[in-house]
Amino acid sequence: MKLFQEKPIVEKYSRAKDFVAEYGIGKGDFILASKGVYEKYFAPLGLEAHVEYKGKYGQGEPTDGMIDALLSDFRKAGCERIVAIGGGAVIDMAKILVLGGNAGAEQYFRREVPLKKVRKLIAVPTTCGAGSEVSNVSIAEISGMKSKLGLAVDEIYADAAVLIPELLTELPYFYFATSAIDAFIHAIESFVSPRANLYTEMFSQKAMEMILAGFGRILSEGEEARKELLDDFLTASNLAGIAFGNAGTGMVHAMSYPLSGKYHVAHGEANYQFLTAVFGFYQRECPEGKIGELNRFLGRILGCGETAVYDELERLFDRIIARKKLRQYGMAESEIWEFAASVEKSQGRLLNQSYVRPSAEQMAEVYRKLW
Ligand SMILES: [Fe+2]
Repeated sequence: MKLFQEKPIVEKYSRAKDFVAEYGIGKGDFILASKGVYEKYFAPLGLEAHVEYKGKYGQGEPTDGMIDALLSDFRKAGCERIVAIGGGAVIDMAKILVLGGNAGAEQYFRREVPLKKVRKLIAVPTTCGAGSEVSNVSIAEISGMKSKLGLAVDEIYADAAVLIPELLTELPYFYFATSAIDAFIHAIESFVSPRANLYTEMFSQKAMEMILAGFGRILSEGEEARKELLDDFLTASNLAGIAFGNAGTGMVHAMSYPLSGKYHVAHGEANYQFLTAVFGFYQRECPEGKIGELNRFLGRILGCGETAVYDELERLFDRIIARKKLRQYGMAESEIWEFAASVEKSQGRLLNQSYVRPSAEQMAEVYRKLW
């Protein structure tokens, strides 16, 4: 049984120009980037690469249609190496470009065609959440399904994950906070995953510890304090990415997908709606298992008793970003069952990685509680 692997080389540079020089980024490279970050940190370097901005393909998180348009541009450009500079959406989209063949996004995501890695990918994250630079997962909304589908195969690993903390400097507080909470959820979900083991737990625990310490400092010193913590948060997100790349995420991610897919709620924000409700469910269903170890670990960090960790976590995170009722996003009461049934049907990979595998009825109960 495989315990652990970390495929991409992980590198850190203090400045974008050092990375560009080291990798000789230029002619023959296809860069998919977030416009704001590219214009500030890379455009002044006058690179000769083929550059496309993610915004050209659509706002928000990837859809099969957006990836199809990107594939079409990429195939015309005739480049061999791909550089993704952006958040999880940018890196997830770029991961599909490494695959050979002439198929469309939906065929790759549904694994209807052979998946073969034929190109190199360098992933440069500009948020501190997705961990996509080190995971073998790409997530897209498949329009026909009205939900998200994850493609998790080793063929789409990046070859290098390059951390450049200065690229996060302009990240607005809301995106910083939601991506950091997403990273925390990667760490906590992978910690209790049935696929977790000592190797992955070390990464999960260190990531949780760093994120909670960073949040503690932001709460006492204010939002601007994050500017001194970018390296910590980017590293923590990377560690959480390595953890979930090996052990997987679970029910929190699974339940968030219909909400973010249908109502276009940012991934980290959508996830956060479910975090404490799902862990409360785990606690009730199986208090004797691994969750006890998690509760003791979090209790030590949060300075509370192990029975109070989820209340304490909720209090802390609610001060970082506000939570809403699901109905405030537009979700109808009739969708409680619809969402639960769709997760049951299409998110088997994540449900199998959950600490307790929920039934559709149990998921409907969680949706109802949060509705
Ligand atoms: Fe996530």
